[in-house]
Amino acid sequence: MHVHRFERIWLVAALFMIVLFIGTVTFGAVVAGYGMVDAEGGQVDTSDPAASESFRDPGVYNGSEPGHYDVYVETRRFAFVPGTAEPIRVPANSTVTFHVASADVLHGFEVVGTNINTMTIPGQKAMVTAEFDEPREYGLVCNEYCGQGHHDMAGTLEVVPESAFNATAEVQ
Ligand code: CUA
Repeated sequence: MHVHRFERIWLVAALFMIVLFIGTVTFGAVVAGYGMVDAEGGQVDTSDPAASESFRDPGVYNGSEPGHYDVYVETRRFAFVPGTAEPIRVPANSTVTFHVASADVLHGFEVVGTNINTMTIPGQKAMVTAEFDEPREYGLVCNEYCGQGHHDMAGTLEVVPESAFNATAEVQ
């Protein structure tokens, strides 16, 4: 059977792309550690995450050791609480675990310019831990379509100098 030269070139190119895409997905899952939201965070009551055992009132809390903080964030149509009405404030040179839960539908929680990016699935707490070295401001966006206000669902994360944090933050 005669296969035209261009046909062969495209067959090879298409096969190469299939192998490349399977390769990137495998690399992400095995080496880079990307994954779905798992059961680690525990279940939350969607109508009131703060009432759940694995959740707290939204806000910034001292972590289990110095320099570690826990941030509890509710995603709800169409805001991050905290994050939208007031920024989330954490100190520089800290390790921060975000505990994020939806109070209604599926949302996203992305800290723009970092690799912090998770879905918030109703009923399931998402957990992401990250380190912040330098003071700077980050944007927060929802990247799961959640309704007519989805495009307005945004917020701010402020990494402030440690001195400023101790002065202003409410840590429990
Ligand atoms: Cu919340 Cu899109």
